[in-house]
Parts: sequence; structure tokens; C-alpha cells
Amino acid sequence: MGNGIAHVSAMHQLNVTLVDLSEKQLVTAQQTIERNLQRQQKKGKITQAAALTTLDSISYSTDLDASVREADIIIEAVTEKEKVKQSVYERICQHLSSSAILASNTSSISITWLASLTKHPERVIGMHFFNPVPVMKLVEIVRGFETSQETYEAIHRLAVQLGKTPVEVKDYPGFVSNRVLMPMINEAIYCVMEGVASIEDIDTVMKLGMAHPMGPLTLADFIGLDTCLSIMEVLHNGFGDTKYRPCPLLKKMVTAGQLGRKSGRGFYTYD
Ligand code: 3HC
Repeated sequence: MGNGIAHVSAMHQLNVTLVDLSEKQLVTAQQTIERNLQRQQKKGKITQAAALTTLDSISYSTDLDASVREADIIIEAVTEKEKVKQSVYERICQHLSSSAILASNTSSISITWLASLTKHPERVIGMHFFNPVPVMKLVEIVRGFETSQETYEAIHRLAVQLGKTPVEVKDYPGFVSNRVLMPMINEAIYCVMEGVASIEDIDTVMKLGMAHPMGPLTLADFIGLDTCLSIMEVLHNGFGDTKYRPCPLLKKMVTAGQLGRKSGRGFYTYD
């Protein structure tokens, strides 16, 4: 989601540095941003000049430490693995400027826990975007236990500046979005496992019966099955309630490397 957040931020007059460990990922991100800007330009949503200015406002770096030192706001969007988040937060914390805010795009991990990994919990907050970021209007703003009012207001202003509609939520597993969405996706996967209907038909039921833009299995592939599993595990461990147990088929697919669109195969196959 990092490339989408960079895209939208740069489109709204912010200077952005997109950071990744891998040069290759940065090249892919740049290509994705260019493609999505072209799509917006073709649809007449933005001018060519705006697309070029947006591209010019984004720089790409593998140097996390230097990029953090120069940033007023850091939006972390690394993978939903607690160990990975922990090492990234401990490192960011060493280079955070005296007034910088550290916002996490985490989809379900506790903001209070992330904040506890830093020396400045009052400046840590959740800023949860939705895919595709240039299209989806919502941002969930999640206050950690020690998030200051000043930090909350700054992130609220930023979300509005980015053209998003912010909603304030408390720091509970899955917040609101994934506490509601992910059990539905998990249940759709149980329907596949139990042979209740075909993959296509399960998606058709939710698209035509409930007017969802994507069926739950298409959406799971779009989000990434590994991310779906991580979120279910956060819900299951966080609430200690068996109603959140991840579907065994979801676990098997992730173990087999079938992660959805990003790996070329999930419930559907992708070129
Ligand atoms: N960048 C920029 N614009 C994009 C885009 C992108 N990546 N993807 C689509 N668009 C634009 C298109 O240009 C089009 O614009 P228009 O309205 O001006 O014509 C519009 O979005 C619709 O796209 P398409 O016509 O190509 O295709 P669809 O009508 O099928 O819409 C979709 C695509 C917007 C992705 C739609 O299927 C949808 O809303 N799906 C559900 C998405 C969703 O639920 N996201 C949330 C996932 S959960 C999450 O992110 C949280 C995490 O924590 C798990």
C-alpha cells in the first residue's frame, strides 16, 4: 500500500520519500505509481501537468535512517508481521526528529504496542488506508493509549488534506474495518472448503446479492491471503474467541505460497 499512500500524498502537494529495503521493490512501486497516474489522467481526473508534478514530488530511497531524520511525518506500511514491525520501529525511533509523528498503516496490530516500542508513544498513531489508496475515501485514525491530542489533530488534518474521510476508532484488534470485513472473508473461505458453492458463485452471491463491488474471494486475493491470515490471527489472539479462528484452507494456501494477486495465484490465477 506504500506506493498508493505516496501517490496520494504527492498529489496533494507533499514532498514524499518512499523507502524500501529493496531497490527492485522501489522500481516496481514507481512503475505502479506511473501506471495509476496515467489511468487517472486518461479518465480526466487529473491533468498531465499534475501527473508530472506528482511524479516529481516523490523520491525513492533505501536509506531508512536518513529519510526518517528529514521527515515530519513517517507513515509505516511494512508487512503485517510483529517481528518485522518491531525491528523497523526500534530503528525509526533512533532517528525520529524532535517533532515528527510516526503513523502506522497497520490493518490490525495494536497501536499501543507499536508505540511502546518507541521512546515517543505520544507521537505514534494509526493511519489506516484502504486499497486502492487513490480510490478509497476512508482513513481509520487509531489512537493508541498514549497518543496525544496534538498528534491526533495533525493526522486528522493530514487525512482531510489528502481528500480522505477520517473516522476515529479505538485501539481494539482489527479496529472496525477488519473486525467486520475479515470474518466475512474467512467465512467465504469456509464455504469454499466445505464445498457449499464454487469460488465464482460465492463471489457472485455477495456481488449481486449484497452489492459488494468485489466478491469476498476476489477481495481476499486483492488484499493478499497472507495479510488476511495475519489479521485473522490478530483477531483470534486478541479476543481469545474461537469465532475468529482462521479457516484451515486459508492457512494451507498461505503455506503453499498462494497469496493472491501478488504471487499470481490465490482463489483465482493472475497473469
Ligand atoms: N489507482 C487509481 N485509480 C484507480 C485504481 C488505482 N490503483 N484502481 C481503480 N482506479 C479507479 C479507476 O480508474 C476507476 O475510475 P472512474 O470511477 O473514474 O472510472 C475507478 O477506480 C473504478 O475502477 P475500474 O472501473 O477499473 O474497476 P471497478 O469498477 O471494478 O473498481 C475497485 C475497482 C475500485 C478496486 C472496486 O472493485 C472496489 O471498490 N473494490 C473493493 C475494494 C475494497 O474493498 N478495498 C478495501 C480492501 S481492505 C483494505 O484495503 C484494508 C486492509 O487493511 C486489508
